[in-house]
Amino acid sequence: MLDIRCPAPSGAAAGAEDLSTARGPVPNGGSNVSEEQNSRLYNENNDYGERDYAPRKSGKKKKRKESGGHVGEMTTMALVPQVVDAVSVPVIAAGGIADGRQLAAALALGACGVQVGTCLLASEECPIHENYKAALLKARDSDTIVTGRTGGAPVRVLKNRMSREYVRQEKAGADKMELEKYTLGSLRRAVFEGDTVTGSLMAGQVAGMLHEVRPVADILNDLWEGGRQRIAALNTEC
Ligand SMILES: Cc1cc2nc3c(=O)[nH]c(=O)nc-3n(C[C@H](O)[C@H](O)[C@H](O)COP(=O)(O)O)c2cc1C
Repeated sequence: MLDIRCPAPSGAAAGAEDLSTARGPVPNGGSNVSEEQNSRLYNENNDYGERDYAPRKSGKKKKRKESGGHVGEMTTMALVPQVVDAVSVPVIAAGGIADGRQLAAALALGACGVQVGTCLLASEECPIHENYKAALLKARDSDTIVTGRTGGAPVRVLKNRMSREYVRQEKAGADKMELEKYTLGSLRRAVFEGDTVTGSLMAGQVAGMLHEVRPVADILNDLWEGGRQRIAALNTEC
């Protein structure tokens, strides 16, 4: 998966050419959060129950409800500004970002950069099975579902026979062993075998925005340029 770090919206036009060195300002300007509170937020907000992605002080990535794969409970729109206000490290927003409008929105919420996943699945370079890509292109806005809520490890995937049945069994109170029958080997089936019926086709809600398989360079260029244009347009309009 890929991180894009950007200058803050006000400096976007000037610094946009240099993606490798551009940095947003350390957020939380004026916020009064103690080290202890900061540390607590880190622990409480770790979606994966493991150490955070980046060392403290270097940045915070938040992955939200909309994203593909393992998800949290809060939406990007509600969460990012709260994290920005609460921590004293740069925040990278993830979840529900697939074009320049969403990049601009993430920056407006106070993130200094974004991380994207689902939109890169529909790239020529992504080595997933062609059937997986075809399923993504076919997906509409409401074609994802979250499995594994009851077990505390929610995962957003495309709706198919496996995920629908998994959720049905979860709601009926099936235990972990029964549920594992559905997920065992399901990612391999999706990624390598192209099994779109019983495979785990991890994808976020932005799957509905994917209409063609394109080179990664084009996807990222459109993301970046689209974000710059959106910010410039907002500067003119507001
Ligand atoms: C197919 C797929 C597999 C993923 N696997 C992981 C993973 O192993 N570990 C992880 O931290 N995040 C994983 N993610 C989440 C991404 O790193 C990223 O945070 C997320 O996709 C961003 O939201 P978006 O899908 O709406 O762009 C995965 C996402 C997808 C779509």
